[in-house]
Amino acid sequence: MSGELSPIDKAKFVAAKRAADYVEDGMRVGLGTGSTAAWLVRCLGEQVKNDGLKIRGIPTSTRTAELAREVGIEVISLDEAKWLDLTIDGADEFDGDLNLIKGGGGALLQEKIVATASDQMVVIADVGKEVETLGAFPLPIEVIPFGWQTTQALVEETLVSMDVLGRQSTLRMNGAVPFITDEGNHILDLHLNRIGNARQLSMVLNQMPGVVENGLFIDICDAVVIGYGDGRVEVRDINEGTVETERLDFVESDNLFTDLTD
Ligand code: A5P
Repeated sequence: MSGELSPIDKAKFVAAKRAADYVEDGMRVGLGTGSTAAWLVRCLGEQVKNDGLKIRGIPTSTRTAELAREVGIEVISLDEAKWLDLTIDGADEFDGDLNLIKGGGGALLQEKIVATASDQMVVIADVGKEVETLGAFPLPIEVIPFGWQTTQALVEETLVSMDVLGRQSTLRMNGAVPFITDEGNHILDLHLNRIGNARQLSMVLNQMPGVVENGLFIDICDAVVIGYGDGRVEVRDINEGTVETERLDFVESDNLFTDLTD
C-alpha cells in the first residue's frame, strides 16, 4: 500500500495505534486477523524494532502469523502460551454491550479460542462497525465439510424459530471453489438482517452437529477502540464504564504504510 490513505484506513490505523498502548513488556498477546488487526501487528512490530518491546504473539490465522514474523514479533502457539494477557482483534460489527460479529475474514474459530483464553480482549474498529442491533453483516459460521449441505438445511430450518429477520445462507467461496478455513472447514454466511437475541442464537447454533463455531462473540470483549478518519479515537471500556476520546498525531511513516497486503 502506498500514497495517501483513505479515511477508512486512517480510522483503522489510529484505532490500532491507540490499542497498541494496552501492550506491555512481557505480555503474551493474541494477534487478530483482518485489515485492522494487520495495522496493529505493524504497529507492534515497529515497537519491537525501535523501542525494544518484548512480547510473544499468538496469531489467530496463518496470515497473521506470517505478518507477525515478517515484522519481527516472536510468535508462539496458544498451547505454548497456555493463557494470554491480552488479545487485540478487529470486528465486523459491535453493539452497545460490546457483543460482536466476527469472521468476515474466515478466522472466527481461532479468534474465539484465543480471545476466550485471554485476560482481556480489546476490539479495534472504524466507526462504521458500530450498530444498534447485530445482524446486518452476514453471520459467519464454521461448518465441517462432511455433509455441509445437510448442516446448512438444518441451520436454515432452525432459524425459523429464532428471533431473526432473514434465514438465507450462502457457502463462502474463494473464487470458483469453497473457502477453506485454517482448520480445513467451510464457512456459511447467514443473512439474518437483524439478530434479536444473539446470546440464544449463539447457543443454539453451537449445539448443532456439523457446526464447529459461530461468529457471535458474546461477553468476550472488554473494550473497543473506535477510530475516525480524522485521527480521533474513542476508547469505551465496558467493565470500567468509561468513554475517553483523544486525537492521535497522524504521520504517514514509510515503514508502516508500504507493502501492506491484508
Ligand atoms: C476475521 O475473521 C474477522 O473476524 C475480522 O476481525 C473482521 O472481519 C474485521 O476485519 P477488518 O478489520 O478487515 O474489517
